[in-house]
Amino acid sequence: MRRSIITVALAGITSLPLAYSTTTTSSTASNASSVEVDVIFPIHNATYNITQSLPIVFALQNLTAAAAIGPFTFEWDIMPYGKVGYPETQEPGGVLNDYASVYFTTANASTEPYILVNQTDVQKWQFGPFYPYGSVYALQWSIQWDADAKPCDSAPLGVFGSLFFNININDPEPSLGNLTGQCPQLGAVYEINTASKNESCSAVVSNNGTGSPCAVTLDQGAVANISSTWEGLVAASTATASASATATSSSAKHNNAIGSNVPFSYMLVAALLGSLQTIMPR
Ligand SMILES: *[C@@H]1O[C@H](CO)[C@@H](O)[C@H](O)[C@H]1NC(C)=O
Ligand SMILES: *[C@@H]1O[C@H](CO)[C@@H](O)[C@H](O)[C@H]1NC(C)=O
Ligand SMILES: *[C@@H]1O[C@H](CO)[C@@H](O)[C@H](O)[C@H]1NC(C)=O
Ligand SMILES: *[C@@H]1O[C@H](CO)[C@@H](O)[C@H](O)[C@H]1NC(C)=O
Ligand SMILES: *[C@@H]1O[C@H](CO)[C@@H](O)[C@H](O)[C@H]1NC(C)=O
Ligand SMILES: *[C@@H]1O[C@H](CO)[C@@H](O)[C@H](O)[C@H]1NC(C)=O
Ligand SMILES: *[C@@H]1O[C@H](CO)[C@@H](O)[C@H](O)[C@H]1NC(C)=O
Ligand SMILES: *[C@@H]1O[C@H](CO)[C@@H](O)[C@H](O)[C@H]1NC(C)=O
Ligand SMILES: *[C@@H]1O[C@H](CO)[C@@H](O)[C@H](O)[C@H]1NC(C)=O
Ligand SMILES: *[C@@H]1O[C@H](CO)[C@@H](O)[C@H](O)[C@H]1NC(C)=O
Repeated sequence: MRRSIITVALAGITSLPLAYSTTTTSSTASNASSVEVDVIFPIHNATYNITQSLPIVFALQNLTAAAAIGPFTFEWDIMPYGKVGYPETQEPGGVLNDYASVYFTTANASTEPYILVNQTDVQKWQFGPFYPYGSVYALQWSIQWDADAKPCDSAPLGVFGSLFFNININDPEPSLGNLTGQCPQLGAVYEINTASKNESCSAVVSNNGTGSPCAVTLDQGAVANISSTWEGLVAASTATASASATATSSSAKHNNAIGSNVPFSYMLVAALLGSLQTIMPR
């Protein structure tokens, strides 16, 4: 699973091959149901401090449409990138600073919308931005089914996407309070038609459906809920960190390159290429 999301990111800028011929578009579109991935936090293009807790919040709409294909996993990860706005240097780093996944079956994909709340400790990220080109990171996501979604014309539509944000020392700490009254940011809409699935074609018939992020209401109550969930995760991870620091005080410094004024271990290009080879499929 890791492997495919990285491959996808490296393919990043080139255009994606489309799996479906236009001849079936109208009939499949009328029968297709849509899964929508929206991003509540971080905010696209925003710059945050080197924070101990960057909230990661998705709004997932109509997961039942995804469950119609079978059990699936929603994954997110964070990859360092080159500088947004400089196409020639906007390249995926090919390494991940953090990732997590949530597994869904038909039995529990019916929460509508599903608000995924998590967080990541930026001070523990192993990889800085694509040195020396910028401070840009991609929040990437993907949906992957247990069952093989068979490729059509050997090029299945990718069920993935990304959003870019920046990390820089002494920019503001992330704040969820600003979200009240906003719409989530449109991530992507994946149209699914199980009737289209056969041994040569995928049930995912497009990844460019029309979204409705504002259908997810971020009123005061919803934002308070997200905030308290986030605070709970921060408290839990702080508790875990101090417990393991106490238990293994001699080795604690080892996996914890925080203490100094240099939170990131910046990579040289040579080191990057080295790690790419270990991660990429051969
Ligand atoms: C769409 O649904 C209609 C009626 O439910 C059916 O007749 C038709 O074959 C379906 N089309 C596709 C492409 O699945
Ligand atoms: C949501 O998925 C269901 C099938 O699970 C489908 O009937 C419905 O049209 C979908 N809604 C949207 C807005 O795509
Ligand atoms: C994000 O930044 C890029 C590059 O500066 C710019 O092209 C794009 O319009 C920005 N997007 C938003 C939503 O601000
Ligand atoms: C939150 O993310 C961490 C990785 O930072 C992961 O280990 C954990 O399982 C995630 N928790 C949830 C509830 O998804
Ligand atoms: C859904 O159910 C499966 C199987 O019981 C479980 O592994 C998974 O964690 C559940 N997911 C959610 C989001 O509750
Ligand atoms: C940014 O983070 C650093 C390190 O945690 C902290 O010392 C500094 O006060 C923060 N800056 C702001 C503006 O919050
Ligand atoms: C979010 O709110 C904080 C204060 O709570 C403010 O400092 C910051 O500029 C706001 N950020 C945005 C993107 O509006
Ligand atoms: C698979 O389905 C596609 C359209 O959904 C159709 O064009 C193709 O002929 C089908 N292939 C087989 C082998 O049934
Ligand atoms: C949306 O995706 C479908 C299926 O891949 C493709 O046929 C269509 O041209 C795309 N539409 C746009 C506006 O990109
Ligand atoms: C927060 O949202 C979750 C899931 O949407 C829900 O189960 C929970 O009851 C809510 N908590 C509060 C305090 O509203």
